[in-house]
Amino acid sequence: MDITQTKFDPSAVRDDFPILNQRIHRDRQLIYFDSGASSQRPQSVLDAMDECYHRTYANVHRGIHCLSEQATDQYEQARARVQSFINAPNNNEVIFTSGTTASINLVAHAWGNEHIKAGDEILLTIFEHHSNIIPWQQLAVRTGAKVRFVGVNDQGELDLEDLQRQLNANTKMLAFAAISNVLGTTTPVSEIVQLAKTVGATTLVDAAQSVPHEATDVQVWDADFVTFSGHKMLGPSGVGILWGKQAILESMPPFLGGGSMIDQVTTDGFTPGELPAKFEAGTPPIVEAIGLGAAIDYLNSIKMAPIAQHEHELVKASYAVISKIDGLRILGPNANDRAGMVSFVVEGVSPQDISILLDQQGIAIRAGHHCAMPLHQSLGIRASCRASFYFYNTLDEVAQFGEALTKVVARLR
Ligand code: ALA
Repeated sequence: MDITQTKFDPSAVRDDFPILNQRIHRDRQLIYFDSGASSQRPQSVLDAMDECYHRTYANVHRGIHCLSEQATDQYEQARARVQSFINAPNNNEVIFTSGTTASINLVAHAWGNEHIKAGDEILLTIFEHHSNIIPWQQLAVRTGAKVRFVGVNDQGELDLEDLQRQLNANTKMLAFAAISNVLGTTTPVSEIVQLAKTVGATTLVDAAQSVPHEATDVQVWDADFVTFSGHKMLGPSGVGILWGKQAILESMPPFLGGGSMIDQVTTDGFTPGELPAKFEAGTPPIVEAIGLGAAIDYLNSIKMAPIAQHEHELVKASYAVISKIDGLRILGPNANDRAGMVSFVVEGVSPQDISILLDQQGIAIRAGHHCAMPLHQSLGIRASCRASFYFYNTLDEVAQFGEALTKVVARLR
């Protein structure tokens, strides 16, 4: 597929995603609106992984034999694709992990244990995913540091005044999402990073919801760490990325100990290896990394600007249809100022019931707290519904979703 014009036509890619072309529950065409939880994969990613398992699979960085050399070459090519995709200055700053959660835990341990002490503050936003809360809470328990949260304003945006009020000389880490996985709020990453620098705080961007949907340039962001997952960007589950500035990664001790991450081991101890091996202990997610490389090739063939633009159209269309439903409240910013998802609650109706009835119509959305309980608590709700889009979704699907949701709400009332 090669789409060079800016206007994106999803019908041109539907056949690349075999899973989308199926009927479920009494012959209903599947409408998949849960890509925020995990995207689907194009045939090219499935083929790349299949080809590796069938022809070139062996462990990487270990064998002096043909298959190991081929697998190592493919694994390292995948690293180079990630480097280019996020415009990282150096290849060895791209660390393969099992996903965003593992990446953040790595930083909270390897960086946090060295740099955080009692009385220090770790600043997060109230809309963080649990994976960008709990590792810091665990670090705070280990060290006696304090975790604080920046709120959102009435428009559902990050409250930058609150952020500036809370940043102080004790703030040692500011960790925040580039896009909220519930509100769809986008944060001004570069601006926030510059604010953090004024107090000397280190920064981590949870980019799990942004890297799949819009162009990423870690040099423009200028954060110290950026984390994201393969499975939300057409790749397989079980692989993700920690990107960090070379100097800070080099200064950190290893996190997990095991094979590959060492220079020397004796009965007295070990010396760590160089980047990126220092943070890739054990057999890495080899085929998953190769799949992620193929996913990046696919995204590059479409280009990120048309993807972001098309998702914006889907959001605007979904706002137009669902905001007419009586008692329905959309969470987060207005349609013009948000990423490709819409979360909502309906007065007097359980989000789980809505999801179950939509599923019976073939429509997959997510209902619950979306791993963001503090956000839901701050909004005074226990759960919400979320329809999350990707470029393979169509305006026609949004129209069907709107009709089905209207009927489902009427039935549940
Ligand atoms: N983080 C994923 C979500 O938002 C699982 O649904």
